[in-house]
Amino acid sequence: MKLINLLAAAALMMGFAHTMAAQTPVYLDDSKSIEERVEDALSKMTLEEKIGIIHAQSKFSAPGVPRLGIPELWCTDGPMGVRPEVLWDEWEQASWTNDSCTAFPSLTCLAATWNTDMANLYGKSIGEEARFRNKAVLLGPGINIYRTPLCGRNFEYLGEDPYLSGKMATDYVKGVQDNGVAVCVKHFALNNNEINRHTSNPIVDDRTLYEIYLPAFKAAALDGGAWSFMGGYNLFRGEHASYNPILMNDILKGEWGWDGAVISDWGAVHDTETAVTGGLDMEFGSWTDGLSNGRSNAYDNYWLANPYLNGIKEGKFTEDELDDKVRRVLRLTFRTAMNRNRPWGSMVSDEHIAACRKIGGEGIVLLKNQNDLLPISPEKVKKIAVIGENAIKMMTVGGGSSSLKAAYEITPLEGIKKRFGKDFEIVYERGYVGDTLGEYNGVKTNQDLRDFRSVAELTDAAVKAAKDADIVLYFGGLNKADHNDAEDSDRLSMELPYGQDALIKALAKANKNLVVVNISGTGVAMPWADEVPAILQAWYLGNETGNAIADVLSGDVNPSGKLPYTYYADLMQCGAHKLGEYPGTPAKDKFGNDIFDMPYNEGIYVGYRFIDKNNLKPTFPFGHGLSYTTFKYGKASVDKAQGSKNDKFTVSVPVTNTGKRAGSEVVELYIHDSKASVDRPEKELKGFSKVFLQPGETKTVTFEITEPDLSFFDADKHAWVCEPGDFEALIGASSADIRSKAKFTVH
Ligand code: BGC
Repeated sequence: MKLINLLAAAALMMGFAHTMAAQTPVYLDDSKSIEERVEDALSKMTLEEKIGIIHAQSKFSAPGVPRLGIPELWCTDGPMGVRPEVLWDEWEQASWTNDSCTAFPSLTCLAATWNTDMANLYGKSIGEEARFRNKAVLLGPGINIYRTPLCGRNFEYLGEDPYLSGKMATDYVKGVQDNGVAVCVKHFALNNNEINRHTSNPIVDDRTLYEIYLPAFKAAALDGGAWSFMGGYNLFRGEHASYNPILMNDILKGEWGWDGAVISDWGAVHDTETAVTGGLDMEFGSWTDGLSNGRSNAYDNYWLANPYLNGIKEGKFTEDELDDKVRRVLRLTFRTAMNRNRPWGSMVSDEHIAACRKIGGEGIVLLKNQNDLLPISPEKVKKIAVIGENAIKMMTVGGGSSSLKAAYEITPLEGIKKRFGKDFEIVYERGYVGDTLGEYNGVKTNQDLRDFRSVAELTDAAVKAAKDADIVLYFGGLNKADHNDAEDSDRLSMELPYGQDALIKALAKANKNLVVVNISGTGVAMPWADEVPAILQAWYLGNETGNAIADVLSGDVNPSGKLPYTYYADLMQCGAHKLGEYPGTPAKDKFGNDIFDMPYNEGIYVGYRFIDKNNLKPTFPFGHGLSYTTFKYGKASVDKAQGSKNDKFTVSVPVTNTGKRAGSEVVELYIHDSKASVDRPEKELKGFSKVFLQPGETKTVTFEITEPDLSFFDADKHAWVCEPGDFEALIGASSADIRSKAKFTVH
């Protein structure tokens, strides 16, 4: 053995000696600005080295340029925690023992805080974890617009409204990038469903594109300063999004003048020519198996590898496009992996755990609370029945690429026992059996959730427990299993799975003090909403799930979350389903491949815009969320009755806490255009502010309204237009609860 080792070492040293003798070291000048360093590095790179850095060398890394000391560029999912290490070539986890992370709440929960400070805290914390794990690029945030409640990845996104998503994304981006870790904002653009995700071809007019589907991306790119973007799997106007000339060249890099790098989604590239010319800078995940098949049979054959190199040599492509890609990748590298001023980062720190719990508590939405059933009061309650699989199921594992190896996970039942166990009697019943898997890419929860009782037995036991208790806490919803909030599959309907509707109705009959805690990242049908006195929307909350929920149930945290999307009563309240062609009609792409045309016939009428236009009553409206205290809104006023479109209008509204507890209220500003030359939504969100008030306290909330807030996208002029006329600032507690209005006129 020893001899073999010696020989190996000698061979290695000879190899080094050979390398050293053959190559004169080349040093990059690191005293200059990033742009100068980019040009310096570019000027020293060979054609092969340039090709080398624009595609993957493993599942999540690109090779850099060893000769020039440019390090590998490592990416990681994202967006709700740092993914465990995977094998070089496979999705399977690498079984490291030091890569467990803080699992943060799902991004829908973050959006539900309506608090940009929370977005910054989230970004800072997850960025520190990515940095500690030496990742240059965090694959997130996901900010596709919630177009349908069926989309399997809604939980990874920031809701239905472009303004809210844009504001939250901006602060998330800044928080992450302060660590010298790049975000990779995904999935640009129109990746609004998981069914047929590689073959969906959304048909969207320009106005809808610019008003609904692009603003959050623009905010992340320009206000947040995102250093990289990920293209979607879907098509747009016949070309794949990851190298779509309209999205990438004309809009992102052209109109917005963005200087970052476009990374393909994993396996989203299908041809060299359009990938070269369509604005893609880095190719990842096209296929793997580089170790067993040999490098030259794998990564070197990526669309942007040898086929591109050969194309340049044959004169099919010039080096200009290549240099643009290389500059962008170098810039990304200098901003991250070669940034000497990066902080060190940290993993599962006390601060991260506290952030996880805080964001979770702020994002939970109290949807309904009749007769002040919540918070749980020791005067009225002695015995608590906890029912439902989601009370005991760990959910940081599952759901697709955002699946995590969490350092630990406190389930709702554990959190409740910890908080209430001393003073209350707590019983648990399963109620239904849903998903008992608990494994994703080799990461296991190690929970054995098998239960072989019949539906009747499970229901009977749950109903009996409910009858015997003073209050019933039901934990159900979805669970990140396929078709239940998971990548690569949409939900099959809005109904809750596993017979939960019947179970909830039975529980409501058995005990009038029923609280339904719905855990999901998307809206579900609630045909029992009128029969249940209290409903909480609790999302996927990561490590601190149980504690964050117990904080709200006990009143230690006064809920202040509001819905980032409309809670439709049924699919016909959603424009995508009422008018759109979901999941599309069969068509062919330019190569004759099968695709699905998907007309977005509802146009700009997404979410509450569709509800308003059609006078519908959803189960719960966009922006809705209650508190354990009450708030009174005073009269809104504008600082000037009229002005020019270049003026700034300031709207103020006093808000008073009229209850007995301290609490926070999200005050929402919508703009109504009284008359326009085009059809405009009844109102659009253009401001929000979360204000904390002690009992009896009043604060005045102010918003500034400027031209962009009043404008619509004129497709003929290809420009944003603010038409003179009368406008109204609507101040609301939700999109359906406008408390005060103030008029102003633009000349
Ligand atoms: C997902 C991306 C993810 C990537 C890498 C893809 O399948 O769509 O969101 O970042 O895989 O895991």
